[in-house]
Amino acid sequence: MRIPRYFIDELMAKVDIVDLINSYIPLRKIGQNYTACCPFHNEKTPSFTVSSEKQFYYCFGCGASGSAISFMLNYARFEFVEAVQEIANRIGVEVVYEQDNTYQVDNSIDDLYKIMQQVSAYYRQQLRESQTAINYLKQRGLTGQIARDYGLGYAPDGWDNLLKIFGTDTETRNNLLKTGLITQNDAGKRYDRFRNRIIFPILDRRGRIIAFGGRVLDQSKPKYLNSPETTLFQKGNELYGWYLARKQGVLKTVIVVEGYMDVVALVQHGIHYAIATLGTATTTKHLTFLFRNVPEIIFCFDGDAAGQKAAWRALETALPLLEGSRQIRFIFLPQDDDPDGLIRSEGTQAFNKRITQATPLAEFLFATLQQQVNMNSIDGRAKLVELAKPLINQLPAGAYHDLMLQELSKLTGLNNLIIPKSQLKQSVNTSFRELSLVKRAIVYLLNYPELVKLIKYPEKLSFLNQDHIKLLLNLIEFIQFHPQLKLGAICEHWRYTEHESTINLLAKKKALSFENIDAIATLNIEEEFISILNSLYQPCQEQQSIDLLTQINLKLAQINQEKN
Ligand code: UTP
Ligand code: MN
Repeated sequence: MRIPRYFIDELMAKVDIVDLINSYIPLRKIGQNYTACCPFHNEKTPSFTVSSEKQFYYCFGCGASGSAISFMLNYARFEFVEAVQEIANRIGVEVVYEQDNTYQVDNSIDDLYKIMQQVSAYYRQQLRESQTAINYLKQRGLTGQIARDYGLGYAPDGWDNLLKIFGTDTETRNNLLKTGLITQNDAGKRYDRFRNRIIFPILDRRGRIIAFGGRVLDQSKPKYLNSPETTLFQKGNELYGWYLARKQGVLKTVIVVEGYMDVVALVQHGIHYAIATLGTATTTKHLTFLFRNVPEIIFCFDGDAAGQKAAWRALETALPLLEGSRQIRFIFLPQDDDPDGLIRSEGTQAFNKRITQATPLAEFLFATLQQQVNMNSIDGRAKLVELAKPLINQLPAGAYHDLMLQELSKLTGLNNLIIPKSQLKQSVNTSFRELSLVKRAIVYLLNYPELVKLIKYPEKLSFLNQDHIKLLLNLIEFIQFHPQLKLGAICEHWRYTEHESTINLLAKKKALSFENIDAIATLNIEEEFISILNSLYQPCQEQQSIDLLTQINLKLAQINQEKN
């Protein structure tokens, strides 16, 4: 299903980002802008700013930014099409879909969520009616409250419970199959996937049930059975417990454990920010998502060799993502213990101590590598540098990267080998002044689209052989055609294009423009913009003079030839 860009441009001209965001988090008016404590990171004083003039939000703390649609995607966790539908709904306009039948409108996905919901209600009902299942949960230390909060259920024994109750028509039977609730053997016979198991519903980021995990009540195998990957469920994307943890408020940290029971037990004991991957290692997708929402991730692993290995893998996955104030730490449990068993035996206080004392990344990294070399020899220490450098270089440029290198030279006594990456590579936070002229012009136009009227000869710029010149020209043309659109809408227009990230990055560069501008400042802005334009035109003029000279010379040569 596709929505044409012109419709989104129009929608963006109509929506009010302040109303929209205010319906999710209360905003306070300060000067021309609105502020709140940032919903994308943890803070005590508001640095999240929404500009009505620009139809754009920006957080001075964490850099989160974007349009009304971005907010719906990043905060309310809508999919793109849903976000557009929701906004259109709110302002009472009908969504236009592209008349291209390669994209089928797919309403059937709603039916899949619905069947998951219905079956979950059935499993919960069955739990209330099964003393055996209730006893099992009780014996594992869970209260009715936590069972309700986490929507735990019970799939009774039998091959065709779901089929009998829900499979009354072909469509629903197919949906049961599509969601993996029933399964089909080679002979084509269909039967319930979950039989005689405790059921853990798996919720997506928006709280919709997308899968189930089921645990046996005895020693039979397999101990856990999960829904297969379906349209609704890709396990490398999902984190068990995230939705409910996040519902408690903005989180400072999450603790990633291995199992469903571990999450539920930790929450039962007051550690409400526990989540689990679903029988997979932590993926880049998991971490990218988590770091958009919390600055710190604590991984909790078994104390055995397998746990060490899993921790190392998590470390390697996380390194490239550790920008700014993002952190990871590790808890290694005593052998043969898991969080569930441990917190029940030692209590919340002792477990919290493990959390506060969790091993920082640097410590784990260097300790692990030092085990592989002989630190008493120069060769060994040189080897350590060799092992550590590629890892440290995975870190984004910045203070943390440099500190790790410092630590490495301290450990090895090998100085001078190392040049901090922040000096090698342009920092991510290049200041406005360091941007190319073309990029500076783009920044100005994004923030003050009305400046476009000062550009008299855009076609001249097309002669320039510079990076992003085409983007600048497209931007000029777009603004000329849509004089009513502001920063948020303009950024939106480039979503899902090759220039998306450039536009978004540049949109943030003049964050100061969020401050109130008075008449004098406006004059300055025009002057500054004109001076950027003049510098840009200069090589065009030179190029044109050269072209002209060449032409004249050619003409002269021709005339001379004719004379002879
Ligand atoms: P564990 O075997 O450590 O389970 O598997 P656990 O959480 O301690 O379970 P209890 O305490 O015996 O109830 C950890 C996770 O690995 C996946 C599940 O996601 C489980 O929560 N797993 C495990 C499976 O998918 N299938 C299995 O057969 C076992
Ligand atoms: Mn366990």
